Amino acid sequence: MKGIILAGGAGSRLYPVSKIYSKQLTLIYDKPLIYYPLSILMLSGIREILIISNQETIPLYEKLFENGSELGIKIEYAVQSAPNGIAESFIIGEKFIGKDGVTLILGDNIFYGNLDFIYRAMNNIDGAVIFGYRVTDPERYGIVEFDDSGKAISIEEKPKKPRSNFAVPGLYVYDNKVVSIAKSIKPSARGELEITDVNNEYLKSGKLRVEKIGRGVAWLDTGTPESLLQASNFFGVIEDRQGLKVACLEEIALKKNFIDRKKFESIVAGIPNSLYKTYLEKILNEN
Ligand code: DAU
Repeated sequence: MKGIILAGGAGSRLYPVSKIYSKQLTLIYDKPLIYYPLSILMLSGIREILIISNQETIPLYEKLFENGSELGIKIEYAVQSAPNGIAESFIIGEKFIGKDGVTLILGDNIFYGNLDFIYRAMNNIDGAVIFGYRVTDPERYGIVEFDDSGKAISIEEKPKKPRSNFAVPGLYVYDNKVVSIAKSIKPSARGELEITDVNNEYLKSGKLRVEKIGRGVAWLDTGTPESLLQASNFFGVIEDRQGLKVACLEEIALKKNFIDRKKFESIVAGIPNSLYKTYLEKILNEN
């Protein structure tokens, strides 16, 4: 299974900072937003990751992660020339995906809680697995409708009259057919290759599973100043209470055995004095 993080887009709702900066690099409490979706891919065991973004931002990601080897993973980069839709990820990433299945996560989506059910879905994928999360503002998302037996029967992108309150979060698990499906769909009225159209293709062929996510999991979407602040506060509270960091990539790399202790020590030694370094030193002493 390969992983793609889609981290482009205009980010215009964050103007004026969007003039110079990518949303996925803004701080969520103590680390860049993109750390959170990257941590999910790493925790699932995925070690080959493609980051897709616009031309101006790719060099910043390259500076941040280089080729991923510091984290014991392999990171490649690809440019999306314009926000042509989420499903374009699979066309841009065709070569990277090769013959494998692929999990796509949006660079501004954050998941927190016991996510074992997501990691399980990523193993032995046949078809597609997406998720349904209850929200109060369904007009803003892809919305999935279930029948009485709990089976998904329709998915609509940003419906004016939503048929349910279950939004589809930006984490999608697909088999290799997703590449040909993405190539076959046409741009929507808003000119985008819609991920919802990809999901509807899987639904039509009986190959889509939609798993409901319970209230024990937090899914945070971070498109606006308000939601960025909420996410920062959320992780500030949790990290302060537990003395443990969420989405600390070096810690995850060590725990998953992507890097050994010696490598971890050398990474910590290279970090300038900061709370982040102090934290990693604590992890080192505890392990
Ligand atoms: O967050 C989940 C929702 O994401 C889903 O429920 C919807 O079905 C899906 O269409 C999407 O809706 P959004 O309105 O949130 O999509 P948005 O255009 O804001 O794009 C989501 C992220 O992906 C955003 O950070 C920008 C990035 N993006 C988006 C597009 C369309 C790209 O990098 N390239 C693109 O072409």
